[in-house]
Amino acid sequence: MESPFKADILKGKVALVTGGGSGIGYEISLQLGKHGASVAIMGRRKHVLDSAVAALHSHGIPAIGLHGDVRKEDDAARTVESTFKHFGRLDILVNAAAGNFLVPAEDLSPNGFRTVIDIDTIGTFRMCREALKYLKKGGPGKDPSTGGAIINISAILQFGASWYQIHASAAKAAVDSITRSLALEWGEDHDIRVNGIAPGAIEDTAGVVKLAPEEMISKVKQKPLSKFGEKWDIAMAALYLASEAGKFVNGTNLVVDGGQWLSKPRFLLKDDVKQLSRREEIRSRVAPTGLPKSKL
Ligand code: COA
Repeated sequence: MESPFKADILKGKVALVTGGGSGIGYEISLQLGKHGASVAIMGRRKHVLDSAVAALHSHGIPAIGLHGDVRKEDDAARTVESTFKHFGRLDILVNAAAGNFLVPAEDLSPNGFRTVIDIDTIGTFRMCREALKYLKKGGPGKDPSTGGAIINISAILQFGASWYQIHASAAKAAVDSITRSLALEWGEDHDIRVNGIAPGAIEDTAGVVKLAPEEMISKVKQKPLSKFGEKWDIAMAALYLASEAGKFVNGTNLVVDGGQWLSKPRFLLKDDVKQLSRREEIRSRVAPTGLPKSKL
């Protein structure tokens, strides 16, 4: 799909995207690049990174791949430094690296829980912390009058409770909290805007393959508010938040899910509810319940 944004809205900017080799992270990298940014992508799988960088180059996007794991302090520091060394500045950090799997809470080991917290939550904080000195207003290579932007990829599963994802729910709830805390502190102190994006079910992603097996998909697709989104939808939200279009947006978690998280089972059909509601109204007037009158 064609972007509704002008092609130069990120001209001269440099973005670092963790988990940028595939899925939502790759699509964000591609769209940031198509709108003028140079892009560094970080990931654990070298061959995935290599083909993602080649694909970005084929679109004429200046891009590098940086092999690393957000769970490792040294990798986080080296990735940020390499991005700066290669492109001379850093304006946008997108934390898209994440881990998840379906498991009943009683079968999850503390180490399994910790692993997801380490990738999603601490990994996000680790990357933000390493990137701070480059993102802040007056940071090396930056325009002295403005700071950069951070986008944390969140989720919708933690808004309520989700089956078999206690670890990821806790991890993403903490990511949302990090988004707000950094938006407050770094917005005020360093002119850095920190926002989140909460994607719903997005087709062709590891999330859907791992978390919504075929057996679930046919059921989900029947509900109008639960249709699948595209990676493009998330990338457009990222463009909005990263560009001047979002210059007054700080600390929000932009839900991009087609209304999915609001979805609840419909117990009554629309036509039935009209009749039932009227019938109960009339019945209560004709035959009062007999309850004692309120003294209020
Ligand atoms: N069910 C239950 N426990 C699981 C599990 C599963 N499906 N997968 C991993 N674990 C547990 C392991 O048993 C281990 O705990 P233990 O030491 O107590 O046995 C712990 O999690 C770490 O597993 P390991 O395979 O060593 O971790 P890893 O670093 O190789 O992989 C994951 C990290 C588990 C998060 C892996 O799923 C991953 O790499 N995910 C990235 C991609 C992804 O999930 N994308 C979807 C995003 S929505």
